[in-house]
Formats: sequence, C-alpha cells, structure tokens
Amino acid sequence: MADTNAKLTVNGEEYELPIIEGTLGRPVIDVAALQESGFWSYDPGFKVTAPVESKITYIDGGKGELLHRGYPIDELANNAEYLEVAYALLNGDLPNAEQKADFFEKIREHTAVHDQLRKFFEGFRRDAHPMAIMVGVVGALSAFYHEDLDVSNEEHREITAIRLIAKMPTLAAMSYKYSQGEPFMYPRNDFNYAENFLYMMFATPADVDYEKNDVITRAMDKIFTLHADHEQNASTSTVRLAGSTGANPYACIAAGIAALWGPSHGGANEAVLEMLDEIGTVENVPEFMEKVKSREVKLMGFGHRVYKNFDPRAKVMKETCDEVLEALGINDPKLELAMALEKIALEDPFFIERNLYPNVDFYSGIILKAIGIPTSMFTVIFALARTSGWISHLLEMHSAPYKIGRPRQLYTGETRRDFVKVEDRK
Ligand code: CMC
Repeated sequence: MADTNAKLTVNGEEYELPIIEGTLGRPVIDVAALQESGFWSYDPGFKVTAPVESKITYIDGGKGELLHRGYPIDELANNAEYLEVAYALLNGDLPNAEQKADFFEKIREHTAVHDQLRKFFEGFRRDAHPMAIMVGVVGALSAFYHEDLDVSNEEHREITAIRLIAKMPTLAAMSYKYSQGEPFMYPRNDFNYAENFLYMMFATPADVDYEKNDVITRAMDKIFTLHADHEQNASTSTVRLAGSTGANPYACIAAGIAALWGPSHGGANEAVLEMLDEIGTVENVPEFMEKVKSREVKLMGFGHRVYKNFDPRAKVMKETCDEVLEALGINDPKLELAMALEKIALEDPFFIERNLYPNVDFYSGIILKAIGIPTSMFTVIFALARTSGWISHLLEMHSAPYKIGRPRQLYTGETRRDFVKVEDRK
C-alpha cells in the first residue's frame, strides 16, 4: 500500500484522496472522501471503478494476461484439472496430493440432486431454454438446504460451495435431457468431473456400453478451466452485489446465471453460432462486415471491455479447437467460415483501431459444436464452469467484513413536487 495521496479541488475545497497500490496492476484512488464534498463520482458501466479488493484473479488487458491465484491461465488449462483450479480459486492455492484427493472426494459425494428437484423440471415446457431452467432450479436449491444458508458461518459457506460445484453438471445435463424428452442420468462417481458431465449429457439407460473419449473429456475440462473466473465481470459483480445483502448463495448464483445469459456476456458463445448461421457462407462475409461497420450488428465473439490486445483464453481455446477437430476428423464448413471471418476482421482498420480481437466465446462455440453440444447449452456450460469463480468471490466477501453494495445516481428526472389529482392531469 502506498502512502501518497491524490488531491481533488472542488468549490475551492481541497480533498486528499489516498492512492492504494495492489500487488499488480493500476493503483486505485480511494474516493471515500467525496462523501464530505457534496459530490458523487460518476462512472456508467463501471469503466474506471474498482468496487472491491480481491486476491482471486488478476487481468492485464493490455498484455493479455489472466492469472488465477497468481498462476497464468494457459499453465492452468494445460497442466491442471478444472477441479484443481476450482480448489485454488476457493482456497488460495493449488491443492497438494492429499488436499486434491479430499476435495475431489467431497465433490463426488455431492453430485446427486434431491429427487424432489425433478418436479421443478416438469414444470417447464419441453422447449424452455436451458438457461431459463437453470435460473430457476439453481435458485430452488436454497429450498433444499435451508438449514445451511447462514453466510456468516464458515461451515455453511464451505458446504454450499461444494454442493454448488458438485451439482451444476448434474443440473446442466438435466436441463438438456429434459429438452430431449430423455430420462435424467444419475451421476457416475467413478468418472471424473468432465467425464461425468458428458456421460449425463449423452448416455441413455439403454446405452450399456457407453464409452468415454479422452480427447473430448480433456477439451471439456479445459473449457471449464478457461471459464472458471474472470474477476469483476458483470455476472460476478451481480453475485457479489446480491451476496452483499446476506442473501443465500444459491439465490446469488441464480442472479449470476441471469446476468451471464445476456449476449454481451456469456450468451455470446451461442450468439456466435447464430451469427455464423446467419452469414451462411464465406462469400457473404464482406456484406456482413459492412453491416458490422454501419453498426447494424456486432461481430459476436469479438471485443472485450478489458482485453485490448488479445484474450489469453482465446489462444488456448483456439489450440484446443484445432486438437478436437483433428482428433474427431471434423471438417466443418462453419469452422472455415469462422476462420475467414477472423482473418478479415483482424486485418480490417475498423477492428484494428478499436482493438477488437476474438474473445473466448469465438472458439468455444466451435469446439462445443464439434463435441455435439447443442447451441442452447453453450451458455449453460459457461455457467457451470463460472460457478467456482462466483462462489469463490462470495466466500472471499463473506469471510471478511463487508458492506451492502449500494451505488448512488445522477438524477435527471422531473423536479415537480405538487401532486396532481387525476381530474386535473392533462
Ligand atoms: N463488433 C463490432 N464493433 C464492436 C464490437 C463488436 N463485437 N465490440 C465493440 N465494438 C465497437 C463499439 O461499437 C465501439 O465503437 P465506437 O467507439 O466507434 O462507438 C468500440 O468498439 C468500443 O466498444 P464498447 O461497446 O465501448 O466496448 P465495451 O467495453 O463497452 O463492450 C463488449 C465490450 C464485450 C460488450 C463488446 O465488445 C461486445 O458487445 N462484443 C460482442 C459480444 C461478445 O463477444 N461478448 C463476449 C465477451 S467475452 C466473454 C465474457 O467474459 O463474458
């Protein structure tokens, strides 16, 4: 922490605003002294505001660097399993062998969901979007664990984190099975996390010879790791804000799922495939680019609020994409189209001037499609993976003193004071 101050002069009064340095990245100016000044700070979209101090994830958007607990994302994605990364997000460091065995066992113990939860699924139409189902059923988990919802209790916080990470693949697969009219598959606790998810998605009770595929399992696990956390993004900030009221974590994660669903955030992976469908063939790319430049549409899977050079997740995702397509022998015309789009965009001054590069969602959709995951499940998989990040941020917040999040506003509405009776209104 630095002990220098910034100075702010308003209406002739000078205020000392402490400058605080973290271990990496830009220092921040503590604007709490504005409280006495008669002014608020104004920052739509939180472009320059750090509402929290956190030790979980660091991003350097200029360098294209993403660190979880200090480890680079490509190292984690290539050398660790998703559950090890989840452990690190929750606990501060990667597990040793004993901690790993213990954590993995705890997760396995909690993969099943209460049988009564099936009834919630039956309340949805078969054509319901799986994200709509997820918002509902994850929030509904709070009704099953009412006795363990005290966020000031360390044991309650821990068991909730385990339950959420363990049950998300089960719920995600159930939301898919329901849409297919197929029976739900019970989790297989002899399978690892990614294998079990793929099994619950694709196996059927008649499928006695279900076979795992190591390339697909590894790719799925990498996709989970690459989506595990991303510091104070829109959904994580939503989870933190909801959690700042002391609300139960299942409801807070449901709020995060709702925020993630938007096409500017996690919904972009589904939107990329829809965009490729709309473009159709490589010949139509120039015409589509004209629409992007005239701001009729956005090039989905491009651009990021923080990354202004490249998205390090996209780099690993592209390598994984190549591996999966080669291993499965897939020659998808969508991929050719995506690559043509990427090439043109990267050379076009419109994108260069605005620092617009492919983000994680540009390639993840192509891999998921190759694996056989339907487009409507893409954002569900993002939510499944991001749950470890969301719950780690909640744990970090609830393990130390925290305040309810309550932003201010710049009011620009009417100033009328006198009530007008209905008969006198114009
Ligand atoms: N296609 C075309 N133009 C774009 C795009 C895009 N995808 N993204 C940004 N721009 C333009 C934007 O119109 C603006 O141009 P100008 O200055 O001429 O008005 C300029 O680039 C700056 O954009 P911005 O909207 O101020 O940037 P932002 O930081 O507010 O938005 C974003 C970031 C991710 C919402 C945006 O880039 C976007 O909508 N991208 C497409 C959706 C997408 O792929 N989202 C996934 C993000 S990665 C997964 C995740 O972590 O959620």
